[in-house]
Amino acid sequence: KKRYRADVLIEGVVDKINDKINKEVEKAAKRFGESFDEKMFRETNPRCVEYAQKAAAIEKQLAEAMKAGDMAALKTMLEELEIADPESGSRNWTDVRQFNLMFNTQLGNIAGEEGKLYLRPETAQGIFVNFLNVQRSTRQKIPFGIAQIGKAFRNEIVARQFIFRMREFEQMEMQFFIRPGSQKEWYAKWKELRMKWHLALGTPQSKLRFKDHDNLAHYADAAVDVQYEFPFGFKELEGIHSRTDFDLGSHEKLSGKKLQYFDPELNESYVPFVVETSIGADRMFLAMMSQAYTEETVPDAQGEEATRVVLKLHPALAPVKCAVLPLLKNKEELTTVATDIFNKLKFSVDCQYDEKDAIGRRYRRQDAIGTPYCVTVDFQTLEDKTVTLRDRDTLKQERIKIEDLERILVEKTDM
Ligand code: GAP
Repeated sequence: KKRYRADVLIEGVVDKINDKINKEVEKAAKRFGESFDEKMFRETNPRCVEYAQKAAAIEKQLAEAMKAGDMAALKTMLEELEIADPESGSRNWTDVRQFNLMFNTQLGNIAGEEGKLYLRPETAQGIFVNFLNVQRSTRQKIPFGIAQIGKAFRNEIVARQFIFRMREFEQMEMQFFIRPGSQKEWYAKWKELRMKWHLALGTPQSKLRFKDHDNLAHYADAAVDVQYEFPFGFKELEGIHSRTDFDLGSHEKLSGKKLQYFDPELNESYVPFVVETSIGADRMFLAMMSQAYTEETVPDAQGEEATRVVLKLHPALAPVKCAVLPLLKNKEELTTVATDIFNKLKFSVDCQYDEKDAIGRRYRRQDAIGTPYCVTVDFQTLEDKTVTLRDRDTLKQERIKIEDLERILVEKTDM
């Protein structure tokens, strides 16, 4: 995998411009309070418009230079944007070269070409190498997919934006094997399915978009990114690629072993085509955390305004689905019932028991880790065998019969 170092550095300038826009928006949001219309502000504020135009012009110029593989144009851009060479610190770029994205290392302790190996820059190839093995041992018929999660390594020049771009990261990839000629249809299908998946996890449509690739990788005949609007702008979250028979074909050539599938319906053998979906687990985590982290002003126990930190995670993603809380710690009749509920519930719902500190503080603690529901055992429980069920986002509490609790929680938290 090769990439030009120049494009990463130029993208960094675009990021900085977008940061400036976001700062303007933040300032204005504070100034105008509730009446603030962010979309309108972004579209009409002269400074935001000027910055956005500048960023768009740089991106356009970059895409054109990349498509044409025009090193001279990239060099001119670097100089015009006053970007310094990270190695020499100089702004006078000599020549712009391709940059190898793969990490190499040595197997064994005798240096030499034979021992040289590369850390994988994507998990995909392991699936391709094992394609026939998996197909035969699990008796799959085309179309079918193989998915896996694992580490990938890239010699990124600029690892930045927290965990957005790292040199060691975790990928979740799927290779979907199909008949040659059906790739357009499957590519469209996987675009639709992946967008549905993102929406099902609670991400609003306004924060997601497709971005077609301007320049296709050597292995692809169509490629699109699912972009998410991170706090630093719309960025790639996932890639969907129509990889044709490029990979299986290359492995065949390199190994001399056939990677053909016999299609019983067509009564013929062929090298399948592949549609791939590929997403970074870390990047998805960052998206979900940016999406969920919220600071809200709510009245505290005394009715005063207080800030609550709440992680509005989709219940399917919340590590703790429910907290069971006795109203008071030193009332044994309450703690006994709460412990009993917890001990029964814990087998079907990920839950926590907490009796330390005032109930308000315990709610805040659960809000901050994204627990969608809190069950509170109070004095009424002792009379009518009901508990309160508190919703993290609406703060509403309803009374539920203890006997219905497990069913209701499973329904609310299962995807
Ligand atoms: N097998 C195809 C492939 O690797 P990619 O678009 O280069 O495609 C797929 O990478 C996904 O992996 C990206 O959409 C992103 O979520 C994640 N990713 C790529 N490089 C990364 C990095 N340096 N740090 C964190 N995540 C990264």
